[in-house]
Amino acid sequence: MSFQQYHTPVLANFSLARNTFLIRLQAPALAEAIRPGQFVMIRMPKSTDPLLGRPFAFYDTVLDEHGKPIGIDVAYLVVGKVTGLLADLKPGDAVDVWGPLGNGFSEPAGDQHVGLVAGGIGQTPFLAHIRELLGTRGYAGNPARRRAHKVSLYYGVRSADLAAGVEDFTKAGAAVHLASNDGSVGHHGFITDLLAQHGAPQHLFGCGPEPMLHALAKQAAQRGIPCHLSLETPMACGVGICFSCVTAVKTSDGWDYKRVCVEGPVFDAKCLQW
Ligand SMILES: Cc1cc2nc3c(=O)[nH]c(=O)nc-3n(C[C@H](O)[C@H](O)[C@H](O)COP(=O)(O)OP(=O)(O)OC[C@H]3O[C@@H](n4cnc5c(N)ncnc54)[C@H](O)[C@@H]3O)c2cc1C
Ligand code: FES
Repeated sequence: MSFQQYHTPVLANFSLARNTFLIRLQAPALAEAIRPGQFVMIRMPKSTDPLLGRPFAFYDTVLDEHGKPIGIDVAYLVVGKVTGLLADLKPGDAVDVWGPLGNGFSEPAGDQHVGLVAGGIGQTPFLAHIRELLGTRGYAGNPARRRAHKVSLYYGVRSADLAAGVEDFTKAGAAVHLASNDGSVGHHGFITDLLAQHGAPQHLFGCGPEPMLHALAKQAAQRGIPCHLSLETPMACGVGICFSCVTAVKTSDGWDYKRVCVEGPVFDAKCLQW
């Protein structure tokens, strides 16, 4: 694993939806190296409270006028200490970031229709993934190459005001299907129920709360479609040292714990020992 730590200036920090923000960080070397499905750890500099960093998917790379990566965007939901502090940052402030971390998304099976399924704040890894799949942006030094004919994003939220980045996903070329628990936007109910009503994509990728991932893995198994899930397990170090992030994974002779930060965060749904 090759990652580096950076002290990154904040270029922008603005609201995307209720309690949800986008922070833009100037980090050219990180932006050159990161690819969809990987994540970074962010820590408040010169602070011991909180002491530990927190994991965040990169929403997308920021390009200069020549198409050169100069930074990353991170979209975040305020839930506690670090995300609360991030929301107060202004351009010119700085955070400590280390990355790129984790394995990233695998190549899709087939080249026709890929389905991305997100719940809560689980949409954040999918903007860069959409652009990579549709071949509109290259990552980690690789040229852009189309990997899917069509990409659909199935995105479930509690209510309409929490739907963050919908315009970004649509502009990136995905067919966006929304669901909400209270019926204020899209399908009234679970996103996995909406997915079940649609024609089967050839490969599913999911990110979100565990019950949603369970339902998605079950549906993929019933339909016989490959499915990869990005886990949002809480992490302390993010780099494989502390074992605070383990999840149970099936092995040839039973099961074993794997570190989500190093062996994940993306796992084949068939391998997870729920
Ligand atoms: C690989 C990965 C990528 C992620 N990407 C994003 C992202 O792009 N945007 C985003 O907003 N969040 C993302 N998360 C979740 C994010 O890391 C947590 O929301 C964050 O750690 C909360 O930090 P905090 O200091 O604000 O909250 P804390 O003060 O640490 O905790 C507040 C509350 O949130 C709970 N909590 C902490 N972490 C998690 C978690 N991972 N899942 C569920 N509950 C949790 C705590 O138990 C506590 O109840 C990601 C997590 C992982 C593992
Ligand atoms: S977070 Fe420390 S080993 Fe994964």
